[in-house]
Amino acid sequence: SRMELEECVRPVEQSVSGEESDTLLTTLAQETSLESDACKFFSLTETPEDYTIIVDEEGFLELPSSEHLSVAGATWLALNVVSGGGGFSGSQPIGVTKIAKSVIAPLADQNISVFMLSTYQTDFILVRERDLPFVTHTLSSEFTILRVVNGETVAAENLGITNGFVKPKMVQRPVIHPLSSPSNRFCVTSLDPDTLPAVATLLMDVMFYSNGVKDPMAAGEDCGHIRFFSFSLIEGYISLVMDVQTQQRFPSNLLFTSASGELWKMVRIGGQPLGFDECGIVAQISEPLAAADIPAYYISTFKFDHALVPEENINAVIGALKVSQAEKH
Ligand code: ARG
Repeated sequence: SRMELEECVRPVEQSVSGEESDTLLTTLAQETSLESDACKFFSLTETPEDYTIIVDEEGFLELPSSEHLSVAGATWLALNVVSGGGGFSGSQPIGVTKIAKSVIAPLADQNISVFMLSTYQTDFILVRERDLPFVTHTLSSEFTILRVVNGETVAAENLGITNGFVKPKMVQRPVIHPLSSPSNRFCVTSLDPDTLPAVATLLMDVMFYSNGVKDPMAAGEDCGHIRFFSFSLIEGYISLVMDVQTQQRFPSNLLFTSASGELWKMVRIGGQPLGFDECGIVAQISEPLAAADIPAYYISTFKFDHALVPEENINAVIGALKVSQAEKH
């Protein structure tokens, strides 16, 4: 057992009402007979070094305690940016590149550590609960900040911070950590929760039992290939990030991808484990992507960060990040 990360998350959302997914949630809760105290935020990501689990407090209580489980201290809240008001259905969730300047950079400027989880549906920015007043203050000029508590949307209380922030200096943000790019080509997909039972054993096999049974492509010849698989079930929505070899094991027509069906290449960030305190890593990567208008998914795990960019952009991205890396002193 190589389980490693465990975090408590209570979703906080911006300009969003959390009601729309309740129908799906109810169905799920009945099927698993867990009722309303069931876990509504679950994410599991396999990397070469460990499994990262992000769960809400309900999910955390269901986990057995184990000496093999390392838990990142502190409770984190999941923020998610939704453009326009009026709920999930009528608004467009926007990608990591689009929030680089408005959310990620300002938080980095205020030394607020974040933890990212992009999914097929949206991008979650996790912040420590104790940082929430600073987060709210930092983002309040550009965003309406709403908090979802027990399914109800309430205004996030402003704790009356009126000063005390150093004006961010417009410094450049060189990429600090080493980068690598595995040879995998990834797809970002989703699945109707109703079809989950049909692929449950396949999912288990892919996530936990496939290490020894690599296909010839992934094994010998291709040493740049890594194990990476991410599954999340959040508020009734499923998201899967997997390489094309793994995708081929799924029955056709079950997984949905975006209309363009594009493939993504990964930039892995970090040599030593990144920890949870350091700020600005996501900003260092996402700002150059935003400047070049390159879309990206971003998945933080217990030890490292992972950015996914369209495969046709990977060389340009690595080039730009290497230039930024050279600027560090
Ligand atoms: N805290 C980093 C930042 O603010 C991102 C997370 C890195 N740590 C990790 N364990 N993946 O940019």
